[in-house]
Amino acid sequence: MEKRPGRFITFEGPDGSGKTAQLDLLVDELIQAGYPVLRTREPGGTPIGDQIRATLLDLKNTAMVDRTEALLYQAARAQLVDEVIKPHLAKGGIVVSDRYADSTLAYQGYGHQNTLASLQGIIHYATGGLIPDLTILLDLAPEVGLERRVSAGGVNRLDAYDIEFHHRVRDGYLEMARKEPQRWVVVDADRSFEEVRSDLREILLDRLQGWGF
Ligand code: TMP
Repeated sequence: MEKRPGRFITFEGPDGSGKTAQLDLLVDELIQAGYPVLRTREPGGTPIGDQIRATLLDLKNTAMVDRTEALLYQAARAQLVDEVIKPHLAKGGIVVSDRYADSTLAYQGYGHQNTLASLQGIIHYATGGLIPDLTILLDLAPEVGLERRVSAGGVNRLDAYDIEFHHRVRDGYLEMARKEPQRWVVVDADRSFEEVRSDLREILLDRLQGWGF
């Protein structure tokens, strides 16, 4: 019998969209149900990537210029792709990542207003052209996301950018989703945790079934 190909699913969305908490539950549920799921996150997900993550999120690093930031994300990503993602996909597994390359386009591209073409070039270099099979966007107004982060006490260096920055990020995500509707699914995250969770579960189970899992 022909081996089923591995599948790569990514979650994207503004800060405070509840993405990470949702993933905690969903991935646990899928693993319990017997799906060969491996979860990872960006930036980070490897020992080297976690060191890069600490540099990126450090509030003291106010001198960091845009290109440094963009390249550090790609460095962490290259390590993650080769060390974690590709080996699991090669075994026919499912990789679920909390953020991936679209975060670079949304934040460093649309957010910081750098040209998308140059970012696409370094993303391709870092990933070897690996594109997700499915990308779920947890869409949320930036004001709501930031409010949630502030009340949770989890503010980092990137949260300190102004609100226009976060609006450009959101609009960028929505534009990417519109341009590639076969890959993206947009979920309204401005609802109760349970409502969002039930939508996500349905989308994932449906897709996994369609892929033959
Ligand atoms: P998170 O762990 O809460 O998702 O935070 C990671 C932060 O890093 C978030 O503000 C988005 C940002 N980020 C980028 O700006 N570019 C990237 O390529 C990635 C992966 C994350």
